Order: sequence, then C-alpha cells, then structure tokens
Amino acid sequence: QDARREQGPLRAMKRVTTIDDLRELHRRNTPRAFFDYVDRGSYAEETLRANRADFEHYKFRQKILVDVDARSTATTILGEPAAAPLILAPVGLTGMQWGDGEIHACRAAQKMGVPFTLSTMSICSLEDVAAHVDKPFWFQLYVMRDRGFVKALIERAIAVKCSALVLTVDLQVIGQRHQDIKNGMTVPPELRLKNLIDIALRPAWIASVMRGKRRTFGNLMGHLKGVDSVKSLSQWTNSQFDPTLSWKDVDWIRSIWPGKLIIKGILEEGDAGMAIKTGADAIVVSNHGGRQLDGAPSAISMLARIAQAVGGDTELMFDSGIRSGQDVMRALALGAKSCMIGRAYIYGLGAAGEAGVAKAIDIISKELLTTMGLCGVNRVSDIGPQVLMDM
Ligand code: FNR
Repeated sequence: QDARREQGPLRAMKRVTTIDDLRELHRRNTPRAFFDYVDRGSYAEETLRANRADFEHYKFRQKILVDVDARSTATTILGEPAAAPLILAPVGLTGMQWGDGEIHACRAAQKMGVPFTLSTMSICSLEDVAAHVDKPFWFQLYVMRDRGFVKALIERAIAVKCSALVLTVDLQVIGQRHQDIKNGMTVPPELRLKNLIDIALRPAWIASVMRGKRRTFGNLMGHLKGVDSVKSLSQWTNSQFDPTLSWKDVDWIRSIWPGKLIIKGILEEGDAGMAIKTGADAIVVSNHGGRQLDGAPSAISMLARIAQAVGGDTELMFDSGIRSGQDVMRALALGAKSCMIGRAYIYGLGAAGEAGVAKAIDIISKELLTTMGLCGVNRVSDIGPQVLMDM
C-alpha cells in the first residue's frame, strides 16, 4: 500500500514544468501547518513579496546569432566543480516535509552535482546524513547561547568531514511568522483537532513520514544534558537564540573551524566588509527568504551595491526569492557567483521526495541554460552586467 501511495506523487511529477507546479503538489500533499511554515514570511510579508517582485525590474538584453551550442551551466563553487551555480540552502525541519527529508535532499543534490547544506535545526542529524550519502556536504551553524554545544557541533561537523561551514548571522532575534502561530506550528506542534483532520487527509505525507526513521531535531536531541523529551528540547531551543551575538563570536568560530567559512545573512555593504575582515571565504547576500526583518529591501535589489563594495576578492553567493533559472541569471549578472535555493527545492521534496528535489534542480538548471543561450552566453563565468538592459 505504501508503494501505491508513493506512485501518486511520482505520477503527478510527469506534468511538472515549473517550480510553481512543485509548490502546488507540495501544498496538496502536506499538512497545512508544515506547508505554511515553508511558504510564508514574517509579519506583513512585505519583504517576502519584494523578494519575488523585484526580479522583474531587471530585464535581459537579447543577443542573437551567437554560437551557443557548447554552452554549459558548469562552474566552480569555493573552488570545487559544480554542475550548476546552485546550492541547496539550509532549511530547518526538512524531515517534516518528507520522511528523512534531509537525506533525500542531500542525495538528490549530490546526484545533480551541487552542494547541499544541512541546517542546525534539521531532523536528520549530521551523522545520519553522513551515513547515507557518498560525498561531503555543508553544515549551517546557528550560534546558540550554550557555546560548549556550539563547539561540540563544530567538532561533529569536522568529524563527519563537512566541506564548508555556513554561519547564519541574521537570526539572533527571531522574526515572527503570524501564520505559524495561527496554525499551532510551534515546537512541539500543537495537536489541535483541526490539524489532526488535516493530517489524516494527506496519505502521501503520512506514508513518507512513517517510512522515515527520525522525528525530532537530530543535531540537538541526545547531545544535550537534561534534554530527553520533545518538551524539554523545545524549552531549550526557544531559550538558545542569542541576542548578544557580535563580530567577536564570528572571530571565535573562525578560529575553531579550519575549513571554508561562509557568512550567510548579509544585506548591507558595511556588514559585507566586516564579514570579509573576519576571514570569511564567501558571504551570502540574503534576507533569510523574507522570514526575518520585514520591511527590509529585497535581497536582489541590494546585490549589485554589495558586489561593488566587496570588489571581487570574496566569493559572493545570493539567496532569497529564486524560483527559476532566469532569477539565477539575474543574480549572477548582478555579481553573485552562485545562488542558494530554499523553498524551490523544499517544494520539490514535499511534492515527491528525492525525485522532486532533483526535478527542482533540473528545472532551474535548464531554464538557466536556455536563458544563457538567448543572451548569447556560453559560460557561467561570462555572465555579467552585459546580459541586462541598462536601468
Ligand atoms: C529557512 N532558512 C534557514 N536558514 C538558515 O540558515 N538556517 C535554517 O535553519 C533555515 N531554516 C529555514 C526554514 C525554511 C522553511 C525556509 C523557507 C528557510 C533560510 C534559507 O536558508 C534561505 O535563506 C531562504 O530559504 C532563501 O529564500 P528562498 O529561496 O526560500 O526564497
């Protein structure tokens, strides 16, 4: 019966041609509280909307009759070859969208030749993911109040050979998502009758979660003294985001993490400069997908000036709002070397597990390849401001 339930999502995938199609399948498959947790943003969602709408301000310059037969989306990300300038962004609770979701997403990323980032707030732990995939992946770190735990997390990331550390710096105070509160999407989730009925109507989701082996924050549970139930875990988690964080903490992380360090959550030129001074190998221009400071500008509208301030010495990554290859092309034209995608791949995961994530990466890569062709560009490294109209 499980196999039959799985066939449904895979059959529906045949008609998928856009990330929006994956979103619609995710919406249908998944309990409302989990879908909204992914889809929505903070407060009035001004920044969430701007993240999408502002891409349209940047128009492409069409270039015809250039031989683009040999074009390719292949590139390098932090010196490593990648099939496309794409990275799967860290996303908390991925394993609640699809059973063992982090393992499925990481496998899809590795098959498709792009990096995967595991969130601190993942359901599958660092060790779980490492045991089920072939190649190294990236780890995203939140600096919790308990610095001993942070150090232990870094040591675990080193032990499983994570190839980069993504330090997220835009969540020392948490932006409220009204919809999560209305849906009872708290840690632990509120078990309201409405939610239970909603869950009962989602057989594909139930089947995937029942097949999955993990149910709670894998990196946290079992590694903390006195935290042995979901209730004590939630109390611990809620008390751990640290408003005292400062650049000194970034220096400390730099001193104990020997590998590549990426600072994620930069939205302003001065902060980009500071991040580089701390010795970051890359920075991610991001507003956390419109989930944190509402009223902040869209990430795409800040990219060019941050790129100018950074000046080419530090690798620039971008996220927040990418739903197509056209969006990736614009971000690359404005100065990014690669893009993280968050919701785009989670929609794929919720639509059909590993196959859905691979589909999301494939859709965006192919759209990028076509856009490159119509703008007369053969290589990712040749994408620059020349592909956009003067504004
Ligand atoms: C996130 N994001 C995030 N970032 C991070 O550093 N650690 C995390 O645990 C999470 N968790 C998380 C959950 C969900 C459901 C979403 C949608 C996002 C932010 C994420 O890494 C990325 O910055 C955004 O998703 C980018 O915007 P798009 O691509 O979703 O528009």
